[in-house]
Amino acid sequence: MSIATLEKQDKKALSTNRTDNWWLEPLVYAIGLGLFLVYATWAAFQGKNYESGPYLSPFYSPLIIVSWWKFSPAFLILWIPAGFRLTCYYYRKAYYRSYFLGPPACSVKSPSSTYSGETKFPFILQNLHRYFLIGATVLLLFLWSDVIKSFNFNGKFGVGVGSIVLLLNTILLSLYSISCHSFRHLIGGCMDSFKCGYQFNLYHKISCANEHHMFWAWTSLFMVGFADLYVRLCSMGVWTDFRLL
Ligand code: FES
Repeated sequence: MSIATLEKQDKKALSTNRTDNWWLEPLVYAIGLGLFLVYATWAAFQGKNYESGPYLSPFYSPLIIVSWWKFSPAFLILWIPAGFRLTCYYYRKAYYRSYFLGPPACSVKSPSSTYSGETKFPFILQNLHRYFLIGATVLLLFLWSDVIKSFNFNGKFGVGVGSIVLLLNTILLSLYSISCHSFRHLIGGCMDSFKCGYQFNLYHKISCANEHHMFWAWTSLFMVGFADLYVRLCSMGVWTDFRLL
C-alpha cells in the first residue's frame, strides 16, 4: 500500500490497518454499561420494593426518608456512586471508546477531528473523582452495616441467601474502591514523591489490587445490580429467600 493511500485512509473515520475484531470490546462494553444504566435508572425510579426482611437494596442505602423529598429516596444517595463510576479512570476509557468513539480502539481513527482532553467543560469535571471517592467510602460504611443487619433475623443470628448476596456485593464494591487509582494516590502519595518508605510499601500493596481494577469494576457493577434485583424480587414475593442457617 502506498504512503499516499495510507494517508488518505488515515483521514477517514474508523479507518485502521488492524485486522482483528477491534470493534468487539467497545461493543460489549456499550451493551454492558447500557443494560446496567437502564436497569439502575428503572430501579431508582421505583421508590418501593427495596426492603425485604433484614435486607436493604444497595441502591437505597443509607435509606433516607424525609417529608420534603417527594421523589424516590434512591436519588438522594445514588448521585454519589454514579459520580464515582462516571469519573472512574477505567470507565472513562470504556465509555469514551464505546459511546464517543474517541477513539474506539488503539490505532483506529476517531470520527472527531479535535481533541481537548479533559481540559474543558464538561470533561474537566472528571477531576472530581477524588471527592467522589470520599463520598463512596462513606456509603461503603453504610453497606457494611447493612451486611451485619442482614444476618439478624428477628434478633437471632441467621444466614439467608440474601445475606450472602449482600456480603458478596459489599466485598466487591470494597475491592473496587480499594483498587481505585485515586485511593492509591491518597494512601501511597507523599507530597507526590516516594520519600516515605511506609507509603511506598502501601503504594505497592494497593497496586496489586489496582492491576485488576477493570475486573473489580465489572464484577461489582454486575453484583450491585443483582443485589438490588434479589432484594426487589424477594420483596415482591417473586423469589423466596432460602435460609441456610
Ligand atoms: S479509578 Fe476507578 S474508581 Fe477510581
